[in-house]
Amino acid sequence: MPTPDKPTLAIIIGSIRPDRFGPTPAAWFAYEAQRHGAFEIDLIDLADYDLPMELAGNDPHAEPPTDVARLGRRLAAADAFVLVTPVYNRSYSAALKTAIDWFYGEWALRPVSFISYGGTTGGLTSIEHLRGIFPEFPSVTVKNFISLPDFWTRFDHDGHPVDSEALRPPATAVLDELAWWAPLLRRARSTRPYPGLDFALADGQASPAADLAPAAAEA
Ligand SMILES: Cc1cc2nc3c(=O)[nH]c(=O)nc-3n(C[C@H](O)[C@H](O)[C@H](O)COP(=O)(O)O)c2cc1C
Repeated sequence: MPTPDKPTLAIIIGSIRPDRFGPTPAAWFAYEAQRHGAFEIDLIDLADYDLPMELAGNDPHAEPPTDVARLGRRLAAADAFVLVTPVYNRSYSAALKTAIDWFYGEWALRPVSFISYGGTTGGLTSIEHLRGIFPEFPSVTVKNFISLPDFWTRFDHDGHPVDSEALRPPATAVLDELAWWAPLLRRARSTRPYPGLDFALADGQASPAADLAPAAAEA
């Protein structure tokens, strides 16, 4: 049962290919976030959504595709985001870009952090490219992030960190920083109109269970 005043943190798995690694660091971080205690956690897997690459046209009243609406409800209920990104050719995934581009008010005026994983660079270039996007909404990309160089050495076959003590401090730093921003911006979204926004803010109640079973929810 969600705690009414606790902000919601959406952790988004940004890789959708078969045999992907993305769910492993995402599940680990969701565990750390639960343990940290500042947030309700919503673990969102973009592989659960069939988001069209062909984006919406110019009619603001057009019905969004079903999966866009489903994902939009979960994003709107979030007060902070952590994007879990692979590195593909020195940048983040097309799946993440599609998910970002379908929405505006759902991202706006929320703090955002990142987990990247890759070879020697740990996917840092993905994070730097993602940071360039979020001022558009605007969202606040925070200072702290997690980067996992040679990611295949960091977790065992069961998905547990090989050295959980080493991974906990950067996770805590990310969570502490998001926990500073999230309530502040939630209050600001509801009390202070932001200058110059040309779209509506989207805020909602977290109900991931209903989203995961849309047919049952509609019945
Ligand atoms: C299309 C493609 C491009 C890649 N480019 C890079 C790269 O530039 N740097 C790197 O360190 N790893 C690169 N990799 C390796 C990925 O880091 C590795 O496959 C990782 O498992 C991808 O995350 P995922 O399994 O969650 O999709 C690439 C992989 C793919 C499929």
